[in-house]
Amino acid sequence: MRRLFIAGNWKMNMTAADAVKFISEIKDDLVAIENIDIAFCPTFLSVPAVSKALAGTSIGVGAQNMYFEPSGAYTGEVSPAMVAEFCQYVILGHSERRGYFGETDQGVNQKAKAALAAGLTPIICVGETLEQNEAGETTEFVSGQVANALDGLTGEQVGKLVMAYEPIWAIGTGRTASAEDANAIIGTAVRGTIENLFGSTVSEKVRIQYGGSVKPSNVKELMAKEHIDGALVGGASLKPSFVELLQNAL
Ligand code: PGA
Repeated sequence: MRRLFIAGNWKMNMTAADAVKFISEIKDDLVAIENIDIAFCPTFLSVPAVSKALAGTSIGVGAQNMYFEPSGAYTGEVSPAMVAEFCQYVILGHSERRGYFGETDQGVNQKAKAALAAGLTPIICVGETLEQNEAGETTEFVSGQVANALDGLTGEQVGKLVMAYEPIWAIGTGRTASAEDANAIIGTAVRGTIENLFGSTVSEKVRIQYGGSVKPSNVKELMAKEHIDGALVGGASLKPSFVELLQNAL
């Protein structure tokens, strides 16, 4: 059985001071939650403070991005080793990075390789636009994103990473994919593609999150589905009721 993994993606919200205050308010409740892997992904500048605030707990910390080069003249970038100094996870290829900052499948693939080499667990995001969804192109498009992101990785590496299926039209919109649809797309376009490329031992191991307007009221139905092994949560992870979301997940 795959253990549930729920991560909060704070995006460009909360200063380090806000983040530490928030963690101190909910920490006791968080550590009491069993059978779910939990992580927070703050902005780079808040990562050390959040990591310190969570020290001694099993709650993980992730970055929201990184660069693939190990070091050098890349003004404004953060290397895999810099992330790995504080984090266990790194989100790669989030649709906001792809949409606003020009990230490509090829770049996500380079970053995935570099993250794994640095000992990080990548959370690789894929997902279709509303137009693609309405045109019936979801499965083909998402399968392509998965194949491109994982190109050249070994089955052993793929088995260790995390995928997140996030339909772009469901992110921050309050509009969630139905649990049935999310499960079907994750089962075919994400797990199915991994099975075709790396075999069923790997595809049964890899954890696949759903993301897009996950809230305390809909998490249980989503998490109950066969192929959904967790959630990547944006807006709802910024509120104390994130605890409720986690408690409702199992
Ligand atoms: P949301 O964001 O939960 O606010 O829809 C999810 C995400 O972008 O990871």
